[in-house]
Amino acid sequence: EKDGYDWFMRKEIFEQPRAVTDALLGRHTESGRLQLDEVRMSEEELRDVDRIVIIGCGTANYAGLVAKYAVEHWTRIPCEVELAHEFRYRDPILTRNTLVVAISQSGETADTLMAIRHARAQNAKVLAICNTNGSTIPRESDAVIYTHAGPEIGVASTKGFMTQMVACYLLGLYLAQVRGTMYGDEIGAVVAELGRIPGHVQGELDKSPEVYELAAALAERPAVLFLGRHAGFPIALEGALKLKELAYIHAEGFAAGELKHGPIALVEQGLPIFCIVPPRGRDQLHDKMVSAIQEVRARGARTIVLAEEGDTEVLPSSAVRWRRCSATTWTSRATWPSPSRSSERRGRRVIVGVGIDVVGVDRFAETLE
Ligand code: F6R
Repeated sequence: EKDGYDWFMRKEIFEQPRAVTDALLGRHTESGRLQLDEVRMSEEELRDVDRIVIIGCGTANYAGLVAKYAVEHWTRIPCEVELAHEFRYRDPILTRNTLVVAISQSGETADTLMAIRHARAQNAKVLAICNTNGSTIPRESDAVIYTHAGPEIGVASTKGFMTQMVACYLLGLYLAQVRGTMYGDEIGAVVAELGRIPGHVQGELDKSPEVYELAAALAERPAVLFLGRHAGFPIALEGALKLKELAYIHAEGFAAGELKHGPIALVEQGLPIFCIVPPRGRDQLHDKMVSAIQEVRARGARTIVLAEEGDTEVLPSSAVRWRRCSATTWTSRATWPSPSRSSERRGRRVIVGVGIDVVGVDRFAETLE
């Protein structure tokens, strides 16, 4: 049932805080150890894993790409991510110590199913990250982590994607625990960060009227770009996919570092570009994103920046008025061409952080050394 929402997808977007809470439920014991009861692989088997290959299609593939950064960082196990429909038709090098992680919301995607059969035929172990209890992919896998997002009926994956990223992070932390590459308190700190995501997401959902206004401004645009770095890069790809499949707008995601290697040619006056900016400090990623933003602005792009609250470095240099928004994002006035002429005259609006994905990026980046 739609519970009073007009579409299942809107309902599912609003269910994200609850879905993430459920995905995390019961994973961390009072003794501070992470437990993944459904992972029916022994600690010894997990210690022997020397390579991880994450497979999935569409959004599931992007969840894997986001996770790769954290999983490699935490476990020190080489991790690659591949589209299931590419993987299944190649001759991959797999051994019994390869852990193939198959991500699928439905658990029934034919290419992902064929890919796990392909992997198991070569003795690799397969762990499914899945939302649908008893579906074919987890049934044919050696182990499973259920995402517990609840049924996803809307055509585009929303809460499914969020919980897939959370499940991948839990797997990465669990492997780190088993292999001793992280201390218990470090793991606890990341789990606590993950536990704060529902609150952040709720904060973003409470800003939906502003997001709708942004959507109205975008509706007539022929094309939109998304730029990110590090975990923000697959988030950019996911953002572009959502815009394509739901708004039928031509959208592309790029790694910001690629701009100067070709895509900058697409940037022209008025082109909307979503820019995903990690938190300040700790590494150069933030500053690199800021210079990419300056570069596209100099060519007339309209930037919609998703950044940490209070990050003034992402603001345009001119004297625009800025308004603080919420825990993770902020809103600006003046640089967005408004849909209505009268508001245009008043110099409104709108740059809004659509923070759901930002939370994932921010939270992860904060865990980096
Ligand atoms: C995009 C979307 C699709 C699915 C893909 C895989 O919004 O929903 O890209 O992510 O078809 O589906 P599952 O996860 O069911 O294997």
